[in-house]
Amino acid sequence: MKVLVTGGTGFIGSHTCCELLDADYDVVVIDNFSNSKSDVIDKIKKITGKDFKFYEGDVCDKSLLNKIFSENKIDAVIHFAGYKAVGESVAKPLMYYRNNIDSTLSLLETMNEFGCKKIAFSSSATVYGKPKSLPIKEDFSLSTTNPYGSTKLMIEDILRDLYVSDNDWSIAILRYFNPIGAHKSGLIGENPNDIPNNLMPYIVKVATGELECLSVFGNDYDTPDGTGVRDYIHVVDLAKGHIKAIEHILNSRGVDAYNLGTGHGYSVLDLVKTFMDVNGVNVKYKITDRRPGDIDACYADPSKARDILGWEARLGIEDMCRDAYNFVKNVKED
Ligand code: WQD
Repeated sequence: MKVLVTGGTGFIGSHTCCELLDADYDVVVIDNFSNSKSDVIDKIKKITGKDFKFYEGDVCDKSLLNKIFSENKIDAVIHFAGYKAVGESVAKPLMYYRNNIDSTLSLLETMNEFGCKKIAFSSSATVYGKPKSLPIKEDFSLSTTNPYGSTKLMIEDILRDLYVSDNDWSIAILRYFNPIGAHKSGLIGENPNDIPNNLMPYIVKVATGELECLSVFGNDYDTPDGTGVRDYIHVVDLAKGHIKAIEHILNSRGVDAYNLGTGHGYSVLDLVKTFMDVNGVNVKYKITDRRPGDIDACYADPSKARDILGWEARLGIEDMCRDAYNFVKNVKED
């Protein structure tokens, strides 16, 4: 079976390529390196001991997509490629709508033309907005508070409409909670070049001394210690969820959404303290004002993915903290 992975050199994409190759899928990757480095290609090959085809380019480029589908019999697609920074999306909405929607439409049109009607889509828990209760179930109401989240919800709607128009499609919409951690090899992980928006990469940069102090965005939320609570999931668990989703869509038709989370919520201070304990490092932090748009708490009910996909997260918050730090130490030694 051959799977096309868009954005396959990115944080989640690269880990998913490793799991696909380990599961003996043939893999084809398209990526424009807008949020990743080209050396990830060789690292995936080193980790798995397997080769795969790579096309450098943009998923908006229909001529490139036509080339890929002409040269490879693609059985299914995992679609990661897209811009994903919440703050940047507020500042540059047109760039986000153009890139994330245009690339998806180009991909789906090409898939249709080549008779490939099986796709797993990288969505996000951000489509739930501020949940009415917790844990979050897939049938909760959907709303978004920023252009990034709106692109994810629009693409979900496009996929649902596509299935209504043609029941031959098989579509898995995967709603990620907060992916962190890294492959145990320390060869791939998350190491943004600029100042990180997200919590874990910021903690790691403070631990390594690259940044001076973590700002904890508010400690007056309605949570046990007042700091924001999220469902952190190990990126390898998340990647394994994609293998289960591919198995499911290869053997079924329909469109459905699945929460890929652990079902456990941890606060900012929980994560900071676990990170310090597990890695024996100090992470200096200070409490500051809330970040606009943040919600108090968010964590999944992952039972649908367990019952239908046969998947559940197995790695804990200590593994996530250990592997995240191990990767960045490895990168610094390179
Ligand atoms: C987690 C917690 C912050 C940074 C976002 C997107 C989501 C997904 C993951 C793409 C919150 C606090 C953070 C910092 C802090 N992205 N925090 N200091 O906002 O839950 O989710 O990233 O798919 O779609 O919405 O993740 O890591 O930014 O924040 O105190 O320097 O850490 O307030 O409580 P978030 P995050």
